[in-house]
Amino acid sequence: MSQPTFATPDDAAAHAEASTLLSPRFYTTDFAAMDRIDVSPLRAEWDAMLQEYEGDNNHDHFQRTPAFADEVARLAPTWSPELRAEFMAFLVSSLTSEFSGCVLYNEIQKNVSNPDVKRLMRYMARDESRHAGFLNQSLKDFGLGVDLGNLKRNKAYTYFKPKYIFYATYLSEKIGYARYITIFRQLERHPELRFHPIFRWFERWCNDEFRHGESFALILRANPSLLSGVNTLWIRFFQLAVYATMYVRDHQRPQLNAAMGFDPTAYDREVIRITRDISTQVFPVTLDIDHPAFFAGLDRLLRAAQGFERGRERGGVMGRLAQAGWALAGVAGFARLYVLAPRRRPLPAQVRMAPSW
Ligand SMILES: [Fe+2]
Ligand SMILES: [Fe+2]
Repeated sequence: MSQPTFATPDDAAAHAEASTLLSPRFYTTDFAAMDRIDVSPLRAEWDAMLQEYEGDNNHDHFQRTPAFADEVARLAPTWSPELRAEFMAFLVSSLTSEFSGCVLYNEIQKNVSNPDVKRLMRYMARDESRHAGFLNQSLKDFGLGVDLGNLKRNKAYTYFKPKYIFYATYLSEKIGYARYITIFRQLERHPELRFHPIFRWFERWCNDEFRHGESFALILRANPSLLSGVNTLWIRFFQLAVYATMYVRDHQRPQLNAAMGFDPTAYDREVIRITRDISTQVFPVTLDIDHPAFFAGLDRLLRAAQGFERGRERGGVMGRLAQAGWALAGVAGFARLYVLAPRRRPLPAQVRMAPSW
């Protein structure tokens, strides 16, 4: 699939601002409803978590060492143009996701008075701002830094009710953890494949994401109505949307995966398995990823997305017809996956989990 070449900062900004089915989104929500969130049923676990944020064990982590720039200068000339383009796309989309969290958590923090929600959002915005800044520095090495003020102003915002924010951000924090730790472990085993120093930062980094996910897990578990009845249908929907989006997007970056010694299918299977295992802390229904129809269905969605893209590149009436056909195939494929019987498990008494992957 076509990948921008990232020749100028405008290319990076356009990639960050793009609103496609696959690009990371910015969110806004109902702040008054956020203000009414009650975490008191899990007070002890909540307070222990806020203590961890307060302790801020990563306060010194997101700083560049002099060796960082040297390593970039040594390794970048060894990249193929395709790897460079895919890696820049990875940095921009990671930056956009991190900054999306930063903007949302910061807006909630500014618009609520509930002290529990306000404190949590302040800490998470602090972490995401560091993550976004650190990624942006790596883009600046290539003259591709994204103006985050402009991005905040220009990007389209999607409105989600608080409960959808909780399902979506819980999953994106946990899948973010799973993605970063899987890359970190792979490059720990194969340091010769570490083609950029930023991957060395991923271990402590992903612990922030894990904790952000824990925060949403506590909010959801403190409000059991969000985890039962018709809401379980939404929970299944969000799991499938998050997994399918990642699956299609990662297959657009074959060189990036190959450089790290990954096959995108195997990498995504591992990431989905980790995320599914973690999400049993909060979701009473999880997708049956071990069913043969599950990954076969994701492959069907991938083919539909690739067909749609070919139609777009072709253009004209035939191109548009092809796009429409593949879009229908995509919707049908998604629906087939959605109706696969999920796994149902009772929720564990203890909500918090350790990042042990
Ligand atoms: Fe983050
Ligand atoms: Fe996060």
